[in-house]
Amino acid sequence: MPLTRKAYRAAILHSLADPAEVGVEASYEYFEDGLLVIENGRISALGHASDLLPRLPADIDITHYQDALITPGLIDTHIHLPQTGMVGAYGEQLLDWLNTYTFPCESQFADKAHAEEVADIFIKELLRNGTTTALVFGSVHPQSVNAFFEAAEKLDLRMIAGKVMMDRNAPDYLTDTAESSYQQSKALIERWHGKGRLHYAVTPRFAPTSTPEQLALAGQLLGEYPDLYMQTHISENKQEIEWVKALFPERDGYLDVYDHYKLLGERSVFAHGVHLCDEECARLAETGSAVAFCPTSNLFLGSGLFNLPMAEKHKLNVGLGTDIGGGTSFSLLQTLNEAYKVMQLQGARLSPFKSLYLATLGGARALRLEDRIGTLQPGTDADFIVLDYNATPLLSYRLKQANNIAETLFVLMTLGDDRTVLQTYAAGNRVHQR
Ligand code: GUN
Ligand code: ZN
Repeated sequence: MPLTRKAYRAAILHSLADPAEVGVEASYEYFEDGLLVIENGRISALGHASDLLPRLPADIDITHYQDALITPGLIDTHIHLPQTGMVGAYGEQLLDWLNTYTFPCESQFADKAHAEEVADIFIKELLRNGTTTALVFGSVHPQSVNAFFEAAEKLDLRMIAGKVMMDRNAPDYLTDTAESSYQQSKALIERWHGKGRLHYAVTPRFAPTSTPEQLALAGQLLGEYPDLYMQTHISENKQEIEWVKALFPERDGYLDVYDHYKLLGERSVFAHGVHLCDEECARLAETGSAVAFCPTSNLFLGSGLFNLPMAEKHKLNVGLGTDIGGGTSFSLLQTLNEAYKVMQLQGARLSPFKSLYLATLGGARALRLEDRIGTLQPGTDADFIVLDYNATPLLSYRLKQANNIAETLFVLMTLGDDRTVLQTYAAGNRVHQR
């Protein structure tokens, strides 16, 4: 293949570390007039335009953006593909919401054509919002995952997904069995895990909808293949937690159910964790597991306020999740807007650089992909986005009053949404243009 080399000149910002660990100033790198050089789908150089330009061939193709900020592609560590059609469903909290809206909506994925149609809408929506990697729940139907991976593969996206395993406490039309879920997951792993930039996640929905036999087989799968992910829900809602205690009286709390079935580990991501206690955070951290913080969902479903400072105290890996369709926006910028308010309600702060970290490098670390995505370090995948300072009249006017990159970033996260994302690049290819 001929060498393809391109450069992008703009203001450029990325995270280097968690501000909670190194302090805000050491946590990021900012180039007011920066240059990002891409070769064959990877980043080959990043720096000040004045330093890099003299070293590049005179005929290199340079795209120069005025009034724009390049950042790494955003990372969504918790989202449901088959809930795209039910965002904003009125009136219920988690358990009634699942029965009233979620299960009927997910049942439509028994139809392959429907799965393909929604996979296409879903991926376009991710890219319109600047999300280049997501950890995705399919439905119980393997074809939901096939449709998603087929669409992601065409665009060479780095994506992780799995079919839901659910063999009890759900309508008959939407359950598998312990054995069928194991066989179907295995077939999907064989077909997709490690193909291009795709990865598979073993996906028991949550403890109440799996028998002990199914949870045991989920744990067994994780032992059978290297580098598999595991995704599930935990401690989102108080009624849910009581239900888990009643279903698993022999276990020492919600996390212990998953721990017992060997579902904790470095590639395990637990969504919500709103009501986790200190000991559970410590155990998650000790096993290298991660939590997906889903503020729009936790507010919309009335689940509660995630205690980010407690997670930080335990050095627990935290990523950000939209949790569509319990969450109300595909936009991680809007998700950060709500995350800030969740911290405010607890008397805490969420600095713009911590927010940047959560949506990029923090998510990459939660997924153990920090060598590939989440920053703009040379050698990593060229997954990046271009944010437009003039996306709306208000944003344009407001940003003229911003005095530094911290203020600019905070305003982008407060007022920004899909309109703010001018372009999205994956593996060096433009996959979205506003
Ligand atoms: N717990 C079990 N299933 C779900 C789901 O689909 N969404 C959310 N938010 N929580 C869950
Ligand atoms: Zn969820």
